Amino acid sequence: MISSPVIAIDGPSGSGKGTISALVAEKLGFNTLDSGALYRILALFCQKRGLDTAQIEEIAQYALDLDVRFSKGCIYLDNEDVTDRIRGEDVGAIASEIAVHPPIREALLQLQKSFAVAPGLVADGRDMATHVFTDAQLKIFLTASAEERAQRRHKQLISKGQGGSLRALVEDIKARDQRDIERETAPLRPAEDSILIDSTGMTIEEVVTQVVELWHRLSN
Ligand code: C5P
Repeated sequence: MISSPVIAIDGPSGSGKGTISALVAEKLGFNTLDSGALYRILALFCQKRGLDTAQIEEIAQYALDLDVRFSKGCIYLDNEDVTDRIRGEDVGAIASEIAVHPPIREALLQLQKSFAVAPGLVADGRDMATHVFTDAQLKIFLTASAEERAQRRHKQLISKGQGGSLRALVEDIKARDQRDIERETAPLRPAEDSILIDSTGMTIEEVVTQVVELWHRLSN
């Protein structure tokens, strides 16, 4: 059983789950867990140390002792702000390779659960509802077409001065979806009791309102 209320928001790359989760958490005064950031931090570790993603033991050992904090939209690793450094497409691609290994997922499990503290948590990722917070009171599976997700990511990158080709982003998103869906451990899929929201053509505000309404309906 989990002690504090949890809203689990899962979905593929670029579905907007990070943005939606942060805004829902802000409206409800809840904490946030961006679980993808944990896999991205491990990817950064591999890059820095020149490790191959198949060096599972070293990566899992590092994962067991992560000192990570989420605060006001920023991510701190050992008290250092790594928010921008982990967002690159290269880091995301390595993260999804690392994430296929069960010992690495297992090593992150307790850390993720420890975020479920009062007054509540909005946790986003791929397996929040199906593995990490199976008792979550509200489970959302957020999706959007691959093209729309690539366009959103493209805009995000351009606003950070990073650019890149849209077509390459569509291909990258599809490849990552496929790897996340087809992997044996904790594949990307909705839980049986997840509520599906297809955000194609919806504004961020519309999605946030829908999730907050669902939460209020459940808790009243
Ligand atoms: O969500 P984000 O794109 O930041 O996640 C990076 C990668 O981490 C994903 O492509 C996925 O492979 C992995 N991941 C995961 N399980 C989670 C969150 C992310 O496997 N709960």
